[in-house]
Amino acid sequence: MWTEVAKVGDIAAGGLKFVKLGGAQAALANCDGTFFAVGRRCGHMNAPLDQGTLAGFVLTCPLHYAQFDVRDGTVLAYPLDRYFGAEPLPAAARHVLDVEQRLQRKIRVDGLATWPVRVTGESIEVDL
Ligand code: FES
Repeated sequence: MWTEVAKVGDIAAGGLKFVKLGGAQAALANCDGTFFAVGRRCGHMNAPLDQGTLAGFVLTCPLHYAQFDVRDGTVLAYPLDRYFGAEPLPAAARHVLDVEQRLQRKIRVDGLATWPVRVTGESIEVDL
């Protein structure tokens, strides 16, 4: 069932928007006038992907920077280790970050759900 979830003018090119799809949550992506709907929660640790960044078809998570293809929800890149600059960190902070990064690498990153999207006039519709 096709349902209007937003207007074309609601999302700038390269932008993302949180929308509800019945009981689900999605991030709507505007890839230069072509729209895609993917699950809103990151497949790593559930960060809100509508707060991420979009470059072409690549959606980057705002928390640990895993990347997804908005066309099919596949994982393109796993979380990145954080970089705090060239200054050495205090030993205790370095230890905590090393442990966190080791643990993060053990957390699976799932692909994102996707939904068919079409534009009818000024309406962005998703097939629920
Ligand atoms: S929550 Fe998205 S990469 Fe970790």
